[in-house]
Amino acid sequence: MGPVAKTGRILSGMRPTGRMHLGNYVGALENWVRLQNEGWRNYHMVADWHMLTTGYEDTSRLQDDIYDMVLDWLGAGLDPEKSVIFIQSEVKEHAELHLLLSMLVSKARLERIPTLKEQIRDLNLDEQTISYGHLGYSVLQAADILLYKPTHVPVGDDQVPHVELTRELARRFNFVYCQDRPPVFVEPEAALTAFARLRGLDGNRMSKSVGNTILLTDTPEEIVRKVRQAYTDPKKARATDPGRPEADLTELDAEGRPVHPGCVVYEYHRKFNPEGAADIAARCRAGTLPCVPDKKDLGQRLSDALAPIRERRERYAADPDRVRDIVAEGNRRAREVAAATLAEVREAMRLKVPWLEGR
Ligand code: TRP
Repeated sequence: MGPVAKTGRILSGMRPTGRMHLGNYVGALENWVRLQNEGWRNYHMVADWHMLTTGYEDTSRLQDDIYDMVLDWLGAGLDPEKSVIFIQSEVKEHAELHLLLSMLVSKARLERIPTLKEQIRDLNLDEQTISYGHLGYSVLQAADILLYKPTHVPVGDDQVPHVELTRELARRFNFVYCQDRPPVFVEPEAALTAFARLRGLDGNRMSKSVGNTILLTDTPEEIVRKVRQAYTDPKKARATDPGRPEADLTELDAEGRPVHPGCVVYEYHRKFNPEGAADIAARCRAGTLPCVPDKKDLGQRLSDALAPIRERRERYAADPDRVRDIVAEGNRRAREVAAATLAEVREAMRLKVPWLEGR
């Protein structure tokens, strides 16, 4: 008998932002698919209610974005035979557990969550006008997670504070309500993806709104065109100039960040061309590797890597009935698990009304 792989159960989700990009793939989807294929029990949730925390006024694109995201998940290789794909708002238990957990956490604790602080800064929000729902973002996420009793939550490092709160709430609930019974909740662990976040093609944080991404649905021509414009070493003006593939730590800006944070094309090579990357870096440094052919080579590699995803996605896109059945079935399976957990929660909290039993 071969070695037995360590497996467990994962729950992860994303807000429906529409079509997925390379960063979503490298930072999350690829990892989900790997775990799925190693025999983990996967639950993957479209966090549409979370979308409302920052975008409640305009929901006109919400349904299209959900659909596009689910297609990309399937394209990336989530297999509905192995993974449960569902929509948060279709499983009302999330709302009920969110309400119950909200009693167990202070407003001050939520205000301290760095992810919320970052959002306030990034979206230029006024702290005084943050909605009740937005403040509760992490509590809803804790409910999302705890309902499925996962052992692990695969997320990016930005999500760790949410998982930390989730663990606290699990402990708090078990302590307050389970003194005389087995604990209801499992404290899940954050499982960080091995590959750090990919930067956008311009060298900045990858974001669809900035337009520095490669989408999983981009055609080979689009990919090659986008890579041609990627950020390289600005000091490598001519093809024969030596280049700096890595960040140059000898020259820092006012905030102490390197003026040259490293060549994006090289960074992508390291991810998508791991065997060739060292040689590419050496030739770049020696001035024997011009950027133009190197970008062409990377564009081709990315396009090859994305081809099976694009093709699988197209097959699903051509069969909307199938997609509908997959998500409807996912919702059903999620509801089953969520309802069972919530029954335990109500029981532990003595919220079951005994004199109505069986009526
Ligand atoms: N907050 C996550 C994000 O922005 C989305 C999310 C909602 C989530 N609920 C979750 C992630 C539960 C993991 C587990 O990407």
